[in-house]
Amino acid sequence: MIHQWIPKPLLLLLIIAILSDLQESKAASFCSKEDQCAVDEEVKQIALPAPIQARYDYTRIYQVELASDEHVRIFQALELASDSCSFMGHARVVGQKLTIMVTAAKVADFDDLVHSYNVTHRVLNHNFQSLIDANYREVAPPGTTPDQFDWKRYYPLENIYAWLESLAKKRSDVVSLVDLGASTQGLPIKGVRIAFGKENLTSVFVESGIHAREWIAPATATYFIDQLLNSEDPAIQELARSQNWLIFPTVNPDGYRYTFEGDRMWRKNRALFGICRGVDLNRNFPFHWNVTGASGDPCRYDYSGPSAGSELETQRIVQFLEQHIQSDRIRTFIALHSYSQMIMFPYGHSAKRVDNYQDLTEIGQLAAQRIKDLSGRIYKSGSIYETIYPSAGGSKDWAHGHLKIPITFSYELRGPADSEDLFILSAKEIEPTAGEAFASLQTIVQEAGKRGYYQ
Ligand SMILES: *[C@@H]1O[C@H](CO)[C@@H](O)[C@H](O)[C@H]1NC(C)=O
Ligand SMILES: *[C@@H]1O[C@H](CO)[C@@H](O)[C@H](O)[C@H]1NC(C)=O
Ligand SMILES: *[C@@H]1O[C@H](CO)[C@@H](O)[C@H](O)[C@H]1NC(C)=O
Ligand SMILES: [Zn+2]
Repeated sequence: MIHQWIPKPLLLLLIIAILSDLQESKAASFCSKEDQCAVDEEVKQIALPAPIQARYDYTRIYQVELASDEHVRIFQALELASDSCSFMGHARVVGQKLTIMVTAAKVADFDDLVHSYNVTHRVLNHNFQSLIDANYREVAPPGTTPDQFDWKRYYPLENIYAWLESLAKKRSDVVSLVDLGASTQGLPIKGVRIAFGKENLTSVFVESGIHAREWIAPATATYFIDQLLNSEDPAIQELARSQNWLIFPTVNPDGYRYTFEGDRMWRKNRALFGICRGVDLNRNFPFHWNVTGASGDPCRYDYSGPSAGSELETQRIVQFLEQHIQSDRIRTFIALHSYSQMIMFPYGHSAKRVDNYQDLTEIGQLAAQRIKDLSGRIYKSGSIYETIYPSAGGSKDWAHGHLKIPITFSYELRGPADSEDLFILSAKEIEPTAGEAFASLQTIVQEAGKRGYYQ
């Protein structure tokens, strides 16, 4: 009991001294002496808890070739049995190549499996985390302002929205901000309408980022916006003025945010269902919903949801398009995804051909050819069902089949189908990827115009 030894006024002084000392050590984080600052930085780093973020250290990416019915059955069973193996697509047919992400703890078992059944395989990547680390280093730092926005880095949701808002302010004669409404977790779904003012134009609707981890998609959508507004190429200026444009870079904002904060490989929205989260929004649209290529299990990456159009994000897109298809004369619907380098049109839910199959086939081929001429990249074109894999509940099927938007394409952007990087595309690929996509979009609009779709 020290205070019994100290006279009261002195005790008071002592307490004040101790308090002000505490005050000082708090204030020390704003210190001016350099050595002091360095020490405080170190202490802070040790004291902070590690971020709660998914890790992919020594996760491997395998590519396997299914050479027999037995192989198909084995990999179908494996997908159901193990959530340590994330499949890119499903095992379906003999002759198929399949990419599978295998977590470190399962690598030995997986390797044993492919050898036991004589499955031809290739390791595309031995440590996926190193790619993700490099990718996070390509994200623009906090505090990046709208006038610093570019296509050399990736941007979090806040930066993309701030950029859209700044455009709507700076170019208010041409650009208006459109908010489709709130997501599951209450974030706005923002986009822009670009209209240079000619009367009675038809509109192009661009949906992007419905799959959260496909970062190249929002980057490409913002590139489109920038080109339409700022290009000095007369052909692009003419294109920009030939249509009105409704462009939504991140229609799954909750998921996109989660790829920065929680798990770089997240795909779905963030709605909670028991022990798992997320509906694959591109399996949730109310047109032949859930008939093929979707799961009824909320823990799987292609969960179609509890019912057709169950998700807020789906409803926002559906409502907006239904309300605006006439008034905005929406005749073109474009969806941006990655990866695999494909330009596809409906349907995905069945092999049934759309009414204008021939036109869409030809336009798709010309769009792919445009890319080949420009960059040498090979994009496959064709219907979703024939080109990638059967899937129902996609926005394109609904846009074309239900809303009757005649020109409907969906892109799988870079890299190639056997990409070693999956969705983790290096930022130096943003400009070439977005550039070739934009050139091919120009081809789509021109060719559709020639065929009378915009009269
Ligand atoms: C494994 O595959 C190779 C090449 O396809 C073949 O020669 C060999 O007989 C197969 N072995 C078994 C056990 O199936
Ligand atoms: C636009 O459409 C309206 C209604 O159909 C029509 O009255 C008007 O003349 C059109 N304007 C132009 C410039 O074509
Ligand atoms: C959707 O399809 C899957 C796979 O066929 C099925 O298991 C699930 O029950 C279906 N969902 C609903 C709500 O019908
Ligand atoms: Zn996708």
